[in-house]
Amino acid sequence: MIRRMVTNPMPQFPAGFLWGVSTSAHQIEGAADAREPSVWDVFTAEPGRVKDGSTAAVACDSYHRYPEDVALLAGLGVDAYRFSVSWPRVDSPGGLDFYDSLVDALCAAGVRPVVTLFHWDLPVALDWLERDTASRFADHVSVVAERLGDRVAKWITLNEPAEHTLLGHALGVHAPGRRLMFDALPVAHHQLLAHGLAVRALRAAGAGDIGIANSHGPTWAASEKPEDRQAAEFYDLLLNRLFSDPLLIGRYPEGIGELMPGDVEADLKVIAEPIDWYGINYYAPTRVGAPQGAEIEFGGLSLPAELPFTVREIEDRPVTDFGWPVVPEALTELLTGFAERYGDRLPPVLITENGCSYEGVDDQERIAYLDGHIRALHRAVEAGVDVRGYFVWSLLDNFEWAEGYARRFGLVHTDFETLERTPKASYAWLRDLLRAQR
Ligand code: BGC
Repeated sequence: MIRRMVTNPMPQFPAGFLWGVSTSAHQIEGAADAREPSVWDVFTAEPGRVKDGSTAAVACDSYHRYPEDVALLAGLGVDAYRFSVSWPRVDSPGGLDFYDSLVDALCAAGVRPVVTLFHWDLPVALDWLERDTASRFADHVSVVAERLGDRVAKWITLNEPAEHTLLGHALGVHAPGRRLMFDALPVAHHQLLAHGLAVRALRAAGAGDIGIANSHGPTWAASEKPEDRQAAEFYDLLLNRLFSDPLLIGRYPEGIGELMPGDVEADLKVIAEPIDWYGINYYAPTRVGAPQGAEIEFGGLSLPAELPFTVREIEDRPVTDFGWPVVPEALTELLTGFAERYGDRLPPVLITENGCSYEGVDDQERIAYLDGHIRALHRAVEAGVDVRGYFVWSLLDNFEWAEGYARRFGLVHTDFETLERTPKASYAWLRDLLRAQR
């Protein structure tokens, strides 16, 4: 079955479709001694926070090995490379020199730099519960744009503010490790405000082609029962619409605005500052039902009982090594649903992350996953959704946050002892796919 799918020719994407791969600073750079600490350094130093007890002090050591990584990108034949700048590195003496050299190396290799300005590694002195962090972010953005703006192809303000809020501040399983539950909502608002201020700062610096990378996935109710449907709707509101409605239609879903701090109406005007494209990170749909009263284990998370929903298993589907269900057609559903909900308000879409964790270098499961998702993406394009690009997460096996080095998302295998990179079967498969697309 898998073989048959994989050998069917991939349909052609529109001319100019942007193919890329994504990484983030904290997950690959290492060289922690050459920058100020971030909340992730503090978090990983606390016993029990990261499953294998590891830290990202060395990670893939891309800070020193970036020429090798750029050569891997060139060999893969991607149009673009999405990476993030580490805010604490930018704040450190000489920190921007590293990104300057990386951007030059990418341009020389014919790979367009796509820069994420915040991918969770907040400087330790800052806190998203504080409104002022949004202005501090805009200052950081101006500094980066000033230095790199002449060569960066696209800008991404924030990566997944939903996960950073939920995992980092509500459930406490990511840095900074707070377990505030619904009191974490200001963290979402301040990040959204930071996004809007960053868009303005980028435009003021003459930079264009601006988007965000928000995580989204269809939410499926566990059953038709009203309590399950209601729980699913609530989950969808909290993880999807809370982050897309303010950006695309300038308001919070009903009942949420009142819970946010500050002059929310005025802030929404900043948050809804027009963007050039909307980035979606997609991994899997979620099945959600009414609360069941007990703490549950799901996808590596322990979800507390006091939540007004429970996440249920999606049965009869293959799962990745992370336990995430593989449901390619949910990507088509997600994109057509977005186009329907937001209509003309939705700018062109880019898939800024999609990928899976599997062990091994002969990673046929990853090939099947990517193949299925790229076809599902094509179906959305055929259905009229204006999708302009697709980025695989990730170039390299890297530091997978609270999972440490146990989850391997790379097209390229990283030996974390020797730091040797070995392209996997999926790397060759994607290279051939990209050649056939041109
Ligand atoms: C994040 C990445 C992460 C990936 C896989 C996304 O939530 O942006 O940093 O490694 O998913 O979990």
